[in-house]
Amino acid sequence: MYNKRKQLLKVVNILNKLAYVTGATSGIGKSLVLTLLKANIDVIGLGRNDDKIKALESEVEALGFKDNLMIVKGDLSYHEAIVDIAKQTKELLEKNNLRIDFLCHVAGRVTSGYHISKDHHELTFQVNHLAVVDLTYQLLPYMNESMKSRILVVSSQSHYRANINFNNLETKTFYTILRSYKRSKLYNVLFVKGFSKMNQQMPIYAIDPGLVRTNIGEKNTSKLASFIWRWRSKKGIHPEVAARHMLNVMTSSEFDHQSGSYVRHGIIVSSNPVTYKEQVIDRLWHETLNMLDIKDFFAKKN
Ligand SMILES: NC(=O)c1ccc[n+]([C@@H]2O[C@H](COP(=O)([O-])OP(=O)(O)OC[C@H]3O[C@@H](n4cnc5c(N)ncnc54)[C@H](OP(=O)(O)O)[C@@H]3O)[C@@H](O)[C@H]2O)c1
Repeated sequence: MYNKRKQLLKVVNILNKLAYVTGATSGIGKSLVLTLLKANIDVIGLGRNDDKIKALESEVEALGFKDNLMIVKGDLSYHEAIVDIAKQTKELLEKNNLRIDFLCHVAGRVTSGYHISKDHHELTFQVNHLAVVDLTYQLLPYMNESMKSRILVVSSQSHYRANINFNNLETKTFYTILRSYKRSKLYNVLFVKGFSKMNQQMPIYAIDPGLVRTNIGEKNTSKLASFIWRWRSKKGIHPEVAARHMLNVMTSSEFDHQSGSYVRHGIIVSSNPVTYKEQVIDRLWHETLNMLDIKDFFAKKN
């Protein structure tokens, strides 16, 4: 719980920076939470599962950072739940007189079989892309507008192998686990490019962590896909390495004027050539905003 000491520090203006991390209870997100806390950055972590939230809180308490972590519980798989996440976040921020410095979209899923969300969107598309856009829209008014603030969207090297088909954006036909995942990660990069084009006040980056040893491929997948992932991910890096690269993007002045960049293993590299096509960036931006019924992405005020 944020305490009186925090209020006092706020008055004398030496309060830690505040990061908002989705997917805070496992894998890269959990490592990021711990890395940020150790770097004196306070965290609001978004989790969806009570047991995992408790486990994270216990680990954080054991490290002595209990007062530096706040939790919001919510589901990114449909719009109404995202509105609720934003409402809880707003209440938490207002109660503690805080604003967000770093917004880190880490949550994501890989899904065997075609599944539809409550809002009738394909689930991987919903959680990996629509939720990123929706939550950014909802939380942007609560962020510190500064060239030192950051939005990070975790994409993936798999986006290089994705194509875009505006007649089948959600992979509602010809669905395969990889086609849907790769496309959602391509959309992450296109969103970052679109956002950076339209907003020069808030730096935003697409993060490619490389192959990371997590359980993502075992959560919503078939036995075969799960087996393949277990075997493949053994060659991956530890999530803490990915988290340290992200911390560097958030805090190093090297990234100050690099908004819209694709950062792989902590280094700016080129993304899929299609992500540089203005027409593609603009069309995905407009199609996504139409789906979410957002008229003007940057008009929302708190
Ligand atoms: N692992 C890799 O090699 C790799 C490579 C490139 C990119 N990435 C990306 O890295 C990000 C993190 O993945 P990871 O590998 O760390 O896997 P992970 O451990 O499974 O983390 C995914 C996180 O997303 C959360 N999540 C999933 N669906 C959600 C929903 N509907 N509502 C709220 N939270 C939800 C999960 O919650 P729970 O904790 O409750 O499960 C989990 O915390 C993903 O975006 C992934 O695409 C991973």
